[in-house]
Amino acid sequence: MLLNYPSRFEAYGSVEIYELSRIHTLLSMGISPRPGAYSIPSLKQFEDTASKTVFIVPVKNEDPFVVEGVLRAIPYYSQVILVSNSQREPLNMYKVELDIARTIFKNTGRTIIVLHQKDKVLADNLAPHLPSIIGEDSLVKDGKGEGMLIGAIIADALGAENIAFVDADNYIPSVVLEYALIYYTALSMSESKYKMVRIYWGYKAWMSTDELYYRRMGRVSSIVNGLFNKVLSYRRKVETDIIKTSNSGEHAMSMDLAREIVYGGGFSVETQELVSILEKCYLGVDRGLCPSLHGGIEIYQIESLSPHIHAEKGEAHVLEMIFESASALYHSEIAEERGKSFILKTLGDLGFSRDPVQISRYEYPKIDARKLMDTVLTESSLSTGFGV
Ligand code: GDP
Ligand code: CO
Repeated sequence: MLLNYPSRFEAYGSVEIYELSRIHTLLSMGISPRPGAYSIPSLKQFEDTASKTVFIVPVKNEDPFVVEGVLRAIPYYSQVILVSNSQREPLNMYKVELDIARTIFKNTGRTIIVLHQKDKVLADNLAPHLPSIIGEDSLVKDGKGEGMLIGAIIADALGAENIAFVDADNYIPSVVLEYALIYYTALSMSESKYKMVRIYWGYKAWMSTDELYYRRMGRVSSIVNGLFNKVLSYRRKVETDIIKTSNSGEHAMSMDLAREIVYGGGFSVETQELVSILEKCYLGVDRGLCPSLHGGIEIYQIESLSPHIHAEKGEAHVLEMIFESASALYHSEIAEERGKSFILKTLGDLGFSRDPVQISRYEYPKIDARKLMDTVLTESSLSTGFGV
């Protein structure tokens, strides 16, 4: 992929947030790019980056036909972890997901690990290291963020150098391939040990009633990006609109960065990732909270060529996502008084009568990830590793 090298970045402490960059050409292996653009120099380096990147797909009750497309679109070189919170009765959707993974494994031999978020063995072995993720039923709590953190730990166990997330409700499989190319290219372009790539969807659309309407920005993103930028502007006293990907489910990062992030519960997770990076490495530098002071953290935002077409889950879902993300921002150190008031006013204008809640926040646990994975895959009858 030939990527535009971003023209500028904004520095917040040791965090560098790059402006949106665009794709010039989807595939450009081996070319010599002009200055100001980047392409992975060789097939060897492409394979190298791809094989060190583990994909994590969180899933909850998505159409199996769509999930299968997503799994098949992830490049062969990268290992895959499916973290499912799908129902097991009356219809066992989880079994269908397992069977899809098994079929792909039998056809291709590639590694696919399938975990259930409500796996008892997983919960029992995670509990001593991450007690707050366990709910009243002694199992891992519901939530996309919780699923993503489990995926990150298992990727760590596989020796991942980078982790990459894609949602399971991507209706067009080849778009997932485009995301993978974006991740590999930007991860390989960055020279920092601590790096993140977030996808800005060129357009967003839903499979809904009778028309396909291409929106320039998702409903959640347009509100939460606005809140984030306002909070940052007030904090730094320099107006900014740098944040374009506050809620991007499609993102990748180095494992070194993944271990430093504080994960938010549920749908706050993507916003909370940025919040925690800024809390540690913008505001917390003097208190020694930032592990990457000298190397710096690089955050890239890349605009995809293809529209993001995913499941329409209704207005209530959209409002819940806004609320959780806004809550993550509201209760963060980045938001000072003016920022907090702005969040409250925006939520009020949207019709919310409740105050932002304290979302769950999980530090990456100090855990022997390999031991956890081995125990779960040998002792559990729910979770399975194909090709491990
Ligand atoms: P949106 O695309 O931002 O509107 O959010 P979605 O509802 O599509 O969720 C993003 C992804 O997370 C999808 O693949 C969902 O199936 C998945 N997901 C949602 N809730 C959970 C959960 O509790 N656990 C796991 N593992 N995945 C979830
Ligand atoms: Co979706």
